[in-house]
Amino acid sequence: MGVKVLLLENIHPVATEAFRRAGFEIEACAGSLSADELVDRLPGVSVLGIRSNTKVTPEVLEAGKDLLAVGCFCIGTNQVDLVDAAERGVAVFNAPFSNTRSVVELVLGEIIALGRRLPEKTQRMHEGVWDKSAKGSHEVRGRTLGIIGYGNIGTQLSNVAEAVGLRVIFYDTADRLAHGNARRVGTMDQLLAESDVVTIHVDGRPGNAGMFGAEQFAKMKPRAMFINASRGMVVDDAALREHILSGHLAGAAIDVFPIEPKAQGDTFESPLRGLDNVILTPHVGGSTQEAQEEIGHFVSNKLIGFVRGGATALSVNLPEVAPPQLPGAFRVGYLHSNERGVLAGINRLLAEAGANVVGQSLSTRDDRGYVLIDTDLALSDAALAALRGAPQTVWLRSWEL
Ligand SMILES: NC(=O)c1ccc[n+]([C@@H]2O[C@H](COP(=O)([O-])OP(=O)(O)OC[C@H]3O[C@@H](n4cnc5c(N)ncnc54)[C@H](O)[C@@H]3O)[C@@H](O)[C@H]2O)c1
Repeated sequence: MGVKVLLLENIHPVATEAFRRAGFEIEACAGSLSADELVDRLPGVSVLGIRSNTKVTPEVLEAGKDLLAVGCFCIGTNQVDLVDAAERGVAVFNAPFSNTRSVVELVLGEIIALGRRLPEKTQRMHEGVWDKSAKGSHEVRGRTLGIIGYGNIGTQLSNVAEAVGLRVIFYDTADRLAHGNARRVGTMDQLLAESDVVTIHVDGRPGNAGMFGAEQFAKMKPRAMFINASRGMVVDDAALREHILSGHLAGAAIDVFPIEPKAQGDTFESPLRGLDNVILTPHVGGSTQEAQEEIGHFVSNKLIGFVRGGATALSVNLPEVAPPQLPGAFRVGYLHSNERGVLAGINRLLAEAGANVVGQSLSTRDDRGYVLIDTDLALSDAALAALRGAPQTVWLRSWEL
């Protein structure tokens, strides 16, 4: 049977092209669909591609009897009921890292813009005031950039920042290898004491809520600058306001906020509005055409890999398994409830079928277990039916690789 893909919300053409090359049948819609519309459209669809405006509820999943996977062509996955999807064995994928470069470039631009006091200067010009002065303006060359959170974004920022002459130091709670000439520091306090610019790139784990407030701002160098493009809840914006108003800090750029307006055009409230040399952007760090294209590539590849070979690497709701393709082998993908003895039962069946196992990868996540088994001969319909009929089975699929 052919593989039918339903793509909603104007997903980037690179994804459509990838599905076409894979031989999938494609239906596309420019907008999102309501739950009722989805319920009508989903029968016969194996793969659903959405962005953030389509809600995939249990009702929608119930209608998607043929659905194997949902691709979120975006970063967030809140629009999908992940637990319900996992219970039904529907794999969900997203693109958590495809906009890394976009965030890095925005932050680099902000470091330079704040150092030259561009927000203030452009504002005065628009008001008709010619204020030509070097006062408070600095090159970035030779200044120290302190990166808090040295993950995907932090490390890439480290590389591009060094290329423009910044000296980079970083602090991370995990053991991270320094890139280039960057230097790791042992405590956040040490980073704050040395940095001319502090930029935060930590993840959104609950413990990071409020991690940067009055105490941390007070430890920053006089006239240092501050950037947050990670999560709004990490920073106390009211404390930042005090440090900008007092003149202790020379500027800030903030892209993420504890409370962000829901809809386009909604009023934005923040204690940071109206301050000199403070850049405020509406959570656009990762929003570029290039990131959209990269997301199109990334998610379509994950979906094709899953449909064709059962690989679940970076799935957000199923156990992750991604063994290499063994040409000529026969693969069985078996999603089951995570119970004692399932693997032993499968191996007994394989032995009875006389199949030699050439590869086997198992992973578990919550109450689901997933195993990909490669054998040297195709299992008989009877052997597959026996496995399919087992009480622990969620689904079973088989391919020739
Ligand atoms: N502004 C935007 O549009 C935008 C776009 C993409 C990502 N982000 C956000 O940027 C942040 C970083 O993304 P990433 O992909 O680099 O994440 P990542 O998971 O790769 O890296 C986060 C790093 O922070 C470290 N960390 C966590 N808590 C810490 C703490 N308290 N102190 C020091 N280090 C800590 C982790 O060990 C890890 O190395 C995330 O919060 C992400 O949601 C924002």
